[in-house]
Amino acid sequence: MIAADSDQSMRAEARRVTILGSTGSVGQNTVDLLLRNPQAFEVEALTANRNPALLAEQARALQARFAAIADPAYYPALKEALAGSKTETACGPQALVEAALRPSDWVMAGIVGAAGLAPTLAAIRRGVIVALANKEVLVCAGVLVMQEVIRSGATLLPVDSEHNAIWQCFDHARVETVERIILTASGGPFREKAFEDMRPVTPEEAVAHPNWRMGAKISIDSATMMNKGLELIEAHHLFRLPLERIEIIVHPQSIVHSAVVYRDGSVLAQLGSPDMRTPIAYALAWPDRIETPTKRLDLAAVGRLTFEPPDERRFPALRVAREALLHGGGCPTVLNAANETAVHAFLERRIGFLDIVETVERTLERVPGGKLESLDDVYNFDTSAREVAARLSGARMPAQTDLR
Ligand SMILES: NC(=O)c1ccc[n+]([C@@H]2O[C@H](COP(=O)([O-])OP(=O)(O)OC[C@H]3O[C@@H](n4cnc5c(N)ncnc54)[C@H](OP(=O)(O)O)[C@@H]3O)[C@@H](O)[C@H]2O)c1
Repeated sequence: MIAADSDQSMRAEARRVTILGSTGSVGQNTVDLLLRNPQAFEVEALTANRNPALLAEQARALQARFAAIADPAYYPALKEALAGSKTETACGPQALVEAALRPSDWVMAGIVGAAGLAPTLAAIRRGVIVALANKEVLVCAGVLVMQEVIRSGATLLPVDSEHNAIWQCFDHARVETVERIILTASGGPFREKAFEDMRPVTPEEAVAHPNWRMGAKISIDSATMMNKGLELIEAHHLFRLPLERIEIIVHPQSIVHSAVVYRDGSVLAQLGSPDMRTPIAYALAWPDRIETPTKRLDLAAVGRLTFEPPDERRFPALRVAREALLHGGGCPTVLNAANETAVHAFLERRIGFLDIVETVERTLERVPGGKLESLDDVYNFDTSAREVAARLSGARMPAQTDLR
């Protein structure tokens, strides 16, 4: 365990936290910050899907009260690994909701995909602080989720580095002074590749992001630039801005994390080395700030910051995501579910890289995204889209996600 931080500015009482998806990339970065600040935080619950060994290790290191594993096949291993500890255990999708419902002041929504919807909503409904990394939750059910945030009085803090940057620069008390926001995009590993040259790329090449170490799904999304499309939808819900006031610009160095343009022409941006521990720390300690070990930005060493418009001919995912949002209703839900299914098929080498966005677009043509008025609508659009996308990507079974 790393030594306690002596930061006296932290609140006297420890903040009680829960991490949904603690074994993932965002989850592990959050755990790292907790271990560096043991006096400031205590841990209520941790969750994973299929990694009982790491979940148990984290639960022991953080003395978590509860550890839940989504896939019941891994429950015996979790119980064995936590035998003799004080951590209670449970399994199955409902156990993740139970983790979110347990008494904590702060919840990290760090699960990947729409599988995080039910536990994230459960945390939001408690009216606590929810740090949102799990962008698919807002893509598949943005209007309904934001309604719950308002109804419950929860505080939704964006963790995605771009939205976290905008959050830090955004004048929340004078929103009418904001003209637009600028989301930066690294462009991913294939930023300079010709369209046809992307056809034969392998999963290994596609997950190798030039600036960030992340989970497989978001890494593939970054390579197709669907990630920026999902973030466009996320930003629309978080900051309540229409599409025409959200600009996307490619910035390969990932130093300027995003910016807010004000009506007087001022542009406020947040900068930093590309390390997720900075936005996670901002959310973790908010409204305070804690120390992080992230490499400090040396602008002279960086030397040049470059910007270029995104190329939607080579990266059609941006257009597809924008159109889905413009069509509204269940279209973003269909987009998200089809994308999850297609990325899964690509990672299993059942389809090629360019087939991912092609599958999403074909699914959107086949599944009409009508009105989205309830969570049942979300589940129905999600299930239909997964079935169609799985058929299109040649799978016998759709990639299953139990959203409930
Ligand atoms: N990684 C980043 O730097 C980053 C940056 C910005 C935003 N985000 C967003 O944050 C979210 C998490 O990304 P990540 O990169 O941390 O993903 P990741 O490394 O793949 O981790 C995902 C986490 O969710 C769990 N999980 C996966 N499928 C699940 C299911 N069906 N039910 C319950 N739990 C499940 C995983 O458990 P197991 O470990 O047991 O599989 C793991 O704890 C994504 O929405 C991503 O877009 C990530």
